[in-house]
Amino acid sequence: LKHFLTIDGLGRDLLTEILDTADSFIEVGERRIKKVPLLRGRTVVNLFFEPSTRTRSTFELAAKRLSADVLNLDISKSATSKGESLSDTLLNLEAMASDMFVVRHAQSGAAHFIARSVTPGVAIINAGDGRHAHPTQAMLDMLTIRQHKERFEGLRVAIVGDILHSRVARSQVNALLTLGAEEVRLVGPATLMPAAANQLGVKLCTTMEEGLAETDVIIMLRLQKERMESGLLPSEREFFKLYGLTREKLALAKPDAIVMHPGPINRGVEIESAVADGPQSVILSQVTNGIALRMAVMSMAMSGQLAERAAAQHGGA
Ligand code: CP
Repeated sequence: LKHFLTIDGLGRDLLTEILDTADSFIEVGERRIKKVPLLRGRTVVNLFFEPSTRTRSTFELAAKRLSADVLNLDISKSATSKGESLSDTLLNLEAMASDMFVVRHAQSGAAHFIARSVTPGVAIINAGDGRHAHPTQAMLDMLTIRQHKERFEGLRVAIVGDILHSRVARSQVNALLTLGAEEVRLVGPATLMPAAANQLGVKLCTTMEEGLAETDVIIMLRLQKERMESGLLPSEREFFKLYGLTREKLALAKPDAIVMHPGPINRGVEIESAVADGPQSVILSQVTNGIALRMAVMSMAMSGQLAERAAAQHGGA
């Protein structure tokens, strides 16, 4: 691994190695995450052009647990507000001997653009780009599923809600199918399904009755209002009536089904509090797992970049 931009094209062995590496950072039988020296002397820059609570904080904690120095650039107070281009911002941050950029951006493809622009040897981690991908979120979700279900084979997973605008759903579908889930269902109104959804290798369902029946894992998504044109916004009350996860709808799934949500959750819109805070919810475990999973991705990307730097020096000698 040199960058981590998307799940697309990554094989089952590599995804499994990422999960195993993440597991190695978790103290056995505890929620505690180990501190290790793998990124000592390295500098990680968090570059978030969109708001974030979970992703930005767990990337910072992950980098610190790896013993890196961490710089959180406050974009709203940076020189981008004076007209500096993204390329110039990056050049200046690179001049500070940065080893890794963790990037969130509203434009799909932003992390790929940056990965093509930076000096070889600098790792780029995609922390969410537009509607395209949120690969570390999908992988921390896979870690959480594996902790609770121990395997992917035979699992039926429903992803429910605003699929159209969700970068998380795209990455989750890729990861689940690569890791061998038996069936992935996308559940929601036809207006919130991507046009090419029927080419993803998933089952499309427009009712919760069809979508949740006999599922092992339910992943709820919020309405991504910031990516919708105002006229196309569904009524929240109507959405909750049809697709909101209540205790009654949860009873359609297997009795030991787990309930997940990448956050932020909108209580009373896509999920009721009794379910979000209930015994089948693993929503806060997902957040905890974000630290170990992000440690895994950062350490693997850095070690790939260091191997490349060494090869380049050797080749140039
Ligand atoms: N799941 C997620 O990306 O949350 P944040 O927007 O808070 O980072």
